[in-house]
Amino acid sequence: MATKIKRIGILTAGGDSPGLNAAIRGVGKAALGYYGWEIVGFRDGFRGLVENQRINLNRSALSGILTIGGTILGTSRDKPHRMVINGQTKDMTGVIRDNLKKWGIDCVVCLGGGGTAKSALRLHRAGINIITLPKTIDNDVVMTDATFGYATALDIATEAIDRLHSTAHSHHRIIVAEIMGHRAGWLTLGAGLAGGADVILIPEIPYDAEKIADAIRQRSKRGSNFSIVAVAEGAMSRDDARIYDSAEKKLERAKTLNDKIEAKRKIAALDVRHQGNTMRLAGQLEELTHLESRVTILGHVQRGGTPCAADRMLATRLGTACADLINEGRFGVMVAARGDNTEPVPLDEVAGKRKSVPPNHSWVESARRVGTCLGD
Ligand code: F6P
Repeated sequence: MATKIKRIGILTAGGDSPGLNAAIRGVGKAALGYYGWEIVGFRDGFRGLVENQRINLNRSALSGILTIGGTILGTSRDKPHRMVINGQTKDMTGVIRDNLKKWGIDCVVCLGGGGTAKSALRLHRAGINIITLPKTIDNDVVMTDATFGYATALDIATEAIDRLHSTAHSHHRIIVAEIMGHRAGWLTLGAGLAGGADVILIPEIPYDAEKIADAIRQRSKRGSNFSIVAVAEGAMSRDDARIYDSAEKKLERAKTLNDKIEAKRKIAALDVRHQGNTMRLAGQLEELTHLESRVTILGHVQRGGTPCAADRMLATRLGTACADLINEGRFGVMVAARGDNTEPVPLDEVAGKRKSVPPNHSWVESARRVGTCLGD
């Protein structure tokens, strides 16, 4: 029999993204106004559930937040099963379960990406009623058509490419624009396509700098003595991709704890080295093409500010659908976007997975057709 709901909790975890407040409002207004439940906001991700840091989300707290960026609840990357408390790393799963029982919270809604779904699944397996909503500017959550935050970040990155075009043109330069997305290329591919970047480099298609230089030289020969290179923060050369691949395979195959630690250390060292990749690539292209190059790292500008209309709508629809699922007693799921509708997807089909760009995706093919170099 479905739990009789009286009070629900909500939190935001992982990196923030535009649309989080719209989602909080969507869940909150449906909970308060439509279903007549109480809703409590927990601060700073899963930590709020441990430290009882909360905000009462009454009508006035939910009013006027639809258009505001960030999250009124604050966020953190804390994981329930590995939380640093007074300098010590502890598994707080049991504490969270006991707290929720004590506070009479019948269900917790977690707004987050793939990592948050993983934490939520752990809590669900520990007996907590939990639902997640997919948010991230990276658009890399599996089993959902879209994640809120992506559309806004896409607009921002596209506008940046538009603006870089005129200055690259004036100075006959290569401008390399680094775009976020973690290990997925959706944001770079989308912005590169919408902004007409001359070169688009994504993690899913390792590049060869010679091929990029060749494409830039061809443009110069045709009279376009400038180029915009949209590069994903996770994009890498073929050589680097091979090195990463073998380190990741070593980690997968590691049998002993020592082997695992060693493999993780190697990957961490590669990650540190990768941080300077965009600068190195710009230098390489300058050398190979004899065109002056500049780098623009868009960074957190892509995550800040007011959400666009598409993200507000998506977040609102996922939020209200979430309240409907709670009412039906459907827990342990992520509310996914499916066309104009929404659908509950079991958390174990989402947790710890990443939606990458298929190398033959229609956006990739479309970029190739308009003459964009993908670096391969
Ligand atoms: O997941 C969203 C994201 O913005 C990624 O694109 C990026 O790699 C990461 O978060 C940056 O994280 P932080 O804000 O912790 O630097």
